[in-house]
Amino acid sequence: MTARDTPFDKLTEKQAAAELKDLAAEIARHDLAYHQQDAPTVTDAAYDALRARNAAIEKRFPKLVRTDSPSKKVGSTPARGFRKVQHDVPMLSLGNAFTSEDVQEFVRRICRFLELPEDEPVEVTAEPKIDGLSFSARYENGKLVVAATRGDGSEGEDITANIRTIKSLPITLEGKAPKLIEIRGEVFMTKADFQKLNEAQAAKEAKIFANPRNAAAGSLRQIDANVTVSRPLKYFAYGWGALEGMAFDTQWDFLQQLKSWGFVVNERTKVCETVKGMIAAYTKLGEDRAKLAYDIDGMVYKVNRLDWQKRLGFVSRAPRWAIAHKFSAERAETVVENIEIQVGRTGALTPVAHLSPVNVGGVMVGRATMHNEDELARKDIREGDTVVIQRAGDVIPQILEVRLDKRPKASKAFKFPTKCPVCGSVAVREEDEAIRRCTGGLICSAQAIERIRHFVSRDAFDIEGFGEKNIEAFFEDGLVKNPVDLFTLEKRDGRKKLEEREGWAGKSIDNLFDAINRRRTIGLERFVYALGIRQVGQATARLLAHHYGSLGNLRKAMAAAKEPETDAYKELLSIEQIGESVATDLIAFFAEKHNRDVLDKLADEITVEDFQAPDVGDSPIAGKIVVFTGTLETMGRNEAKAQAQTLGAKVAGSVSKKTDLVIAGPGAGSKLKEAQALGVKVVTEAEYFALIGGKAG
Ligand code: IVH
Repeated sequence: MTARDTPFDKLTEKQAAAELKDLAAEIARHDLAYHQQDAPTVTDAAYDALRARNAAIEKRFPKLVRTDSPSKKVGSTPARGFRKVQHDVPMLSLGNAFTSEDVQEFVRRICRFLELPEDEPVEVTAEPKIDGLSFSARYENGKLVVAATRGDGSEGEDITANIRTIKSLPITLEGKAPKLIEIRGEVFMTKADFQKLNEAQAAKEAKIFANPRNAAAGSLRQIDANVTVSRPLKYFAYGWGALEGMAFDTQWDFLQQLKSWGFVVNERTKVCETVKGMIAAYTKLGEDRAKLAYDIDGMVYKVNRLDWQKRLGFVSRAPRWAIAHKFSAERAETVVENIEIQVGRTGALTPVAHLSPVNVGGVMVGRATMHNEDELARKDIREGDTVVIQRAGDVIPQILEVRLDKRPKASKAFKFPTKCPVCGSVAVREEDEAIRRCTGGLICSAQAIERIRHFVSRDAFDIEGFGEKNIEAFFEDGLVKNPVDLFTLEKRDGRKKLEEREGWAGKSIDNLFDAINRRRTIGLERFVYALGIRQVGQATARLLAHHYGSLGNLRKAMAAAKEPETDAYKELLSIEQIGESVATDLIAFFAEKHNRDVLDKLADEITVEDFQAPDVGDSPIAGKIVVFTGTLETMGRNEAKAQAQTLGAKVAGSVSKKTDLVIAGPGAGSKLKEAQALGVKVVTEAEYFALIGGKAG
């Protein structure tokens, strides 16, 4: 009998302490598998039992409650996501037909396969192809037991609680039910419900969905089924997976049976006997498409006779007996009212055309994206132009062409700005890049949140307790608009302002200010990295710090390097691993007045320490060839490489006879084997740091 089998009220104190320790570790492991890896290692019931036992033991021995006890985790029971459900019969996809010829060929192929005479009629059902999410609902002896999303086809997510909120889906089948049946169908949201949902979301300043399909997906995949209840989902049933204890002759008969069990079946489904009939049904459906209450993206034809379906079988992941006849992307003509330049989080300038709203296949379209400056120029799209736009499925509409015959006389080519429309900083475009970017990194509000996040991140200023949520909230309230604000927060009456915020009180405010104040002195390389200059990661920051030594020198050198003929520019390029492209970004960053202002103001708040060059002569790895392999746990790979280089080592990418030292972290594979085979010295990360004298930097 193991300790676990001992009833909790019979445990000795010693046993209880040991078991609480085990339980904490075990539950943490399951949580990790569940949340981070999406791969639960226990059933929900077993997991709940572990937590219950932990709680019972703790109740009996309150003084044994551990600091890492699972009962102390915020919210006590962490919200668990969706469990995985295995489909008995995989959920496959469909092949596509785009033209009448494709449909003709589909029928011919069937005749050939079944060795039917060419003129033998092949009856098919023609069903609208619903643009939603497929589901599989398992009924055992007429009772709904589990429902799942399609997932990867073999395994989906358990959405039983959510699907039960759809009123029209039977929980118990009416009439005679088979022993087992997996009902397959499509969940969707009507266009009207989608509009209403988005209006309600906008009023709450909540997420706006791009289209009914996304709204349906978002609603169905709510962890909290109470939310799903308030989202009006509908479904159509059209097929089955596993089936035991009943048989059908045709797809049509099956659809009738679905109805008598109580399922909703699409009323526009019909039986066609000829290709001509199929095309006619498809054309009619296309004409009515915009009027339908829900989105469809084509017609699905399925061979009606199930004995034929069985013989036809599957090719790879799609049945030979069915095909989706897709509608072509929809087009419409409209006018470009104006062209706006948007600035993304990375500073990329993207043109967006604002259009006179137009109905494209049932959806009102008011904007179209153009990927970049070049596309805009190539198509010569101008404000006031009449354009042909195309919408295909989910994608944001594109501008296909300009109707030059309708171009207004006074029209002028669009001039792409060279200044950021958000912050006014210069926007530069590198030679072989299609994208123009704002250089106002630190002050541009379009990029600011991302920049601040980077600035405080672990390898940069490493300010604890200033997480993503705080960054966004502080930014939006104008409390911290840029890195300087962080260091002036306290003297700008920050304590009082924080006290007014929910969730902030004496202790947490002290902690935040402590964390900020601890970083008022920082090494040059971390500082340069924290600036978030494009292409300047830890390794480059270290090289720059090593080369220029102080922030003052670096700033002077960057200012002097503006022209390529200058010595300063040549010097910059002479640094190993710094090419023209990195140089351009660096120079642009330091040339931007807004960034210089931030640097000046930061200098009033913090001290950037000069780079402490390690004495290469003394370094035990000077002149040695080293190779890193596997995962490094205390440092990024690039940072470790740069560090080794500054200590005078040469870092190689592969192991050879010439290699002096291999630093192998967990997960090391072929390089480690190679080193062992060649007799090259191998050390762990910890041994390596001990060798070079600690995690310098
Ligand atoms: S039958 C093995 N019938 O279209 C055949 N699918 O592109 C499985 N769909 O994954 C599908 N309406 O999500 C079938 N009347 C219909 C459909 C339909 C929509 C979806 C379904 C499927 C996808 C394939």
